[in-house]
Amino acid sequence: MLLLRHCPRLSRLCYGSHRAAVPAVIASARFSRDSDQSHVRWSRRWTHATAGLLAGTGAVLAYALHHHQAEQADVSLPSPPSPPPSSPSSWSVFSQEEVSRHRSLEDRVWVTFKGGVYDITEFVSMHPGGDRIMLAAGGAVEPFWALYAVHNQEHVLEMLAEYKVGELRAEDQKKQSLNPSDPFSADPDRHPVLHINNMKPFNAEPPPQILTESYVTPNVFFFKRNHLPVPQVDPATYKLHVEIQGPSGSARRGIVSLSLDDLKNKFPKRTVTATLQCAGNRRSDMHNAKPVKGLNWGIGAIGNASWSGASLRDVLLAAGYAPDDALWARHVQFEGLDQDVGGTTYGASIPLRKALSEDGDCLLAYEMNGEELPADHGFPVRVVVPGTVGARNVKWLGKIVVSDVESSSHWQQNDYKGFSPSTDWDTVDYKTAPAIQELPIQSAITVPADGAKVDRSDEELTLKGYAWSGGGREVVRVDVSVDGGKTWRIAKLKGDEAGSPPPGQAWAWKLWELTVPLPADTQQLELVCKAVDSSYNMQPDAVLPIWNLRGVLSNAWHRVKVTIKDDQDE
Ligand code: MTE
Repeated sequence: MLLLRHCPRLSRLCYGSHRAAVPAVIASARFSRDSDQSHVRWSRRWTHATAGLLAGTGAVLAYALHHHQAEQADVSLPSPPSPPPSSPSSWSVFSQEEVSRHRSLEDRVWVTFKGGVYDITEFVSMHPGGDRIMLAAGGAVEPFWALYAVHNQEHVLEMLAEYKVGELRAEDQKKQSLNPSDPFSADPDRHPVLHINNMKPFNAEPPPQILTESYVTPNVFFFKRNHLPVPQVDPATYKLHVEIQGPSGSARRGIVSLSLDDLKNKFPKRTVTATLQCAGNRRSDMHNAKPVKGLNWGIGAIGNASWSGASLRDVLLAAGYAPDDALWARHVQFEGLDQDVGGTTYGASIPLRKALSEDGDCLLAYEMNGEELPADHGFPVRVVVPGTVGARNVKWLGKIVVSDVESSSHWQQNDYKGFSPSTDWDTVDYKTAPAIQELPIQSAITVPADGAKVDRSDEELTLKGYAWSGGGREVVRVDVSVDGGKTWRIAKLKGDEAGSPPPGQAWAWKLWELTVPLPADTQQLELVCKAVDSSYNMQPDAVLPIWNLRGVLSNAWHRVKVTIKDDQDE
């Protein structure tokens, strides 16, 4: 067996306190013997597991797979003898130099973690993040785990423990601790009121009631959705690379490099008020109906801001985009300056038609609500694609490419897509679904909060919320119910004080409000809201028919339960 041949310390692996090592080893042999068909099934799992890691879930999936293999092996083998008691001192001690020699599948793959040495060769093919695990080979995993904080979970540590082969020499441990490397150490300070869904990378949303306090969301309270560390960009040396690619295979042309000053001074400054919503907004509602993979956003992964910058259309024309290019060009790709440890950057693309349209109002924004773009929101420049899912509004913009193909980025190809409720992680094929661009109609109740208690003596209740639709479709009505959807009233809408947008360019949300008398005959109210847009698109009433495995596009009627407190309840 592979591990027996390569690892003289197998006896400890098998019978030490880390008893699951045997199943893991056997499982790996079994894995390679699997039929073609099940191999396809596994490789599908790798694909979606990779998507999961980047979304913060891959470790969970890998863990499930790892244990699935272990279970299979348990069935086909006699149980190992009971493990003899082991003490920490029974581990072999390795120098960093010895560990560094194990950097390939042939030489076996070793890593260190908190002073332990682990032979993870068998896990390499199971790693949800694919080959990237090899970047850590021969060294410490801490800097990588700091970058992909999803690893900091108990079950991941349990899984790692199964691969332990020894301990790192004390002086090498000391050296490692002198060199802590946290790729998030330069992340900006954030307002403590934000509800943090994930610390590293930083993902947070404001308390719902803040959203309807003002028509534009103050920058500090605007939700923050980062996949990677916030990059440090020097505005003095910043360059935006713009490129018009030829049709596939032909030469590139129209390459320009623009400084921040160029963007500010060579192009007219335009301002657009636009709502930005993450595809995962309200994922928690979907998750509560049936579990999904992804950050558990409430109703606050949405915000409305006034963005200022150069028009994307102006910049593309200045870079040499010509009418003939419409014969082949289809997409505009964006690349961020944020990158992972392997140098992979965040990327996305939008249809060329949207980018070039005079009515599309796409901006290369350097200001948000009249202030310099904050670090978390893409300083110094981000693209704002009004009416389009947050994921395409690339921050820390480094590169724009006009192309005949979509961005090849993970986030364009293998995430931010919708699927049928019948699609699960074994059957999902990301190639079959289009990337989300325009978002569907959405609304939510921000006040009162779910579970709130209201006094009967108040006699009435004021509800507040937001409503928005993608693609520039204006919200034309919001219906509100206080009896779970049996009867409805129409809420009062509040749009931009500057006036109504032209048809098809309603990029900003509407806030709504409704005051209702408290019904006398009940103590429990189920408040519901649903919005209608200018195409008469309406929100679906239930979550399960729109459930999808990544929990995106969650826009069913929003429901909030409140209790009326009678005076005698005091
Ligand atoms: N751009 C870069 N470069 N890196 C990112 O992680 N996240 C995207 C998008 N642009 C992201 C990015 C996603 S998924 C969303 S929802 C929005 O930015 C969030 O924008 P915000 O953090 O300014 O609210």
